[in-house]
Amino acid sequence: MKPFDVYPINPINIVKANGSTVWDAEGNAYLDLYGGHAVISIGHTHPHYVQRITEQLNRIAFYSNSVEIPIQRELARLLGEVSGKVDYDLFLCNSGAEANENALKLASFYNKRKKVIAFSKAFHGRTSLAVAATDNPSIVAPVNETDNIVFLPFNDEEALTSAFASYGEEISSVIVESIQGVGGIREASVSFLRLIRSLCDQYNAVFIADEVQCGYGRTGLFYAQDYSGVEADIYTMAKGMGNGFPIGAISISPKFKATYGSLGTTFGGIILHARQLWLFWRSSNKISLWKMLHKSAPILSMN
Ligand SMILES: Cc1ncc(COP(=O)(O)O)c(C=O)c1O
Repeated sequence: MKPFDVYPINPINIVKANGSTVWDAEGNAYLDLYGGHAVISIGHTHPHYVQRITEQLNRIAFYSNSVEIPIQRELARLLGEVSGKVDYDLFLCNSGAEANENALKLASFYNKRKKVIAFSKAFHGRTSLAVAATDNPSIVAPVNETDNIVFLPFNDEEALTSAFASYGEEISSVIVESIQGVGGIREASVSFLRLIRSLCDQYNAVFIADEVQCGYGRTGLFYAQDYSGVEADIYTMAKGMGNGFPIGAISISPKFKATYGSLGTTFGGIILHARQLWLFWRSSNKISLWKMLHKSAPILSMN
């Protein structure tokens, strides 16, 4: 057996990393400005990250969500605090695609509708619905194709308004990256985000902010969308959240009521996840940093 050949590979074998430096097998050092697709948020092999994961592995690595995991509650509380969403709930999963999949599903459970508005050049992941909402037909398998996703031009307020005017009662959610990553660092305008918010309010559709790549403090504020002052109903995140540990999450507005079994996962939110994240907060002191940034947000502008 050999690896399934789906990645164009750079001819470099990284064998060691520390902070923002990585080394190849020949001992050449590189300054890592890539961070493996926006993943390494507090530096490679951060000492707290390594130490506490090792400690936890020696105690217990896994138990499922069917038992108490107190550290999950503590993590949710802290995340609520740093993101300025103290009344939102947290659902933990394993990747960005899974976060988006759960967000789209939750929206549909909520308003019992099927249509999703996504935008040109959007990337939301490779699972069934997430890939259908991704504007790249070459990665959408025939089995993923669905009429439920409608693509509109990014930042086109007229197109959005007319879509809602034509079939607003069928729209379950609007999913948007406030800064498109794979699409080429394209920013959503503040007025576009405001319009999404007001149309979602008017038609009882759900506003999903895909912050998998642009969020988690990457732009300074916790969510990139925070610069616009527009609040989403669901925020999805992953990548920088785990500093290399595979994790994703959705932050869910209090208007959604949880029901047993509606969402679920074997691995999401397990002890090792929660421990790793909890220590991420503590070790990086990001809480006070983000609180400070939140206060200075008005002097920063997105557009
Ligand atoms: C904006 C955005 N959403 C979702 C995803 C999918 O995340 P994952 O690869 O963890 O499934 C990506 C990955 O690049 C992304 O950039």
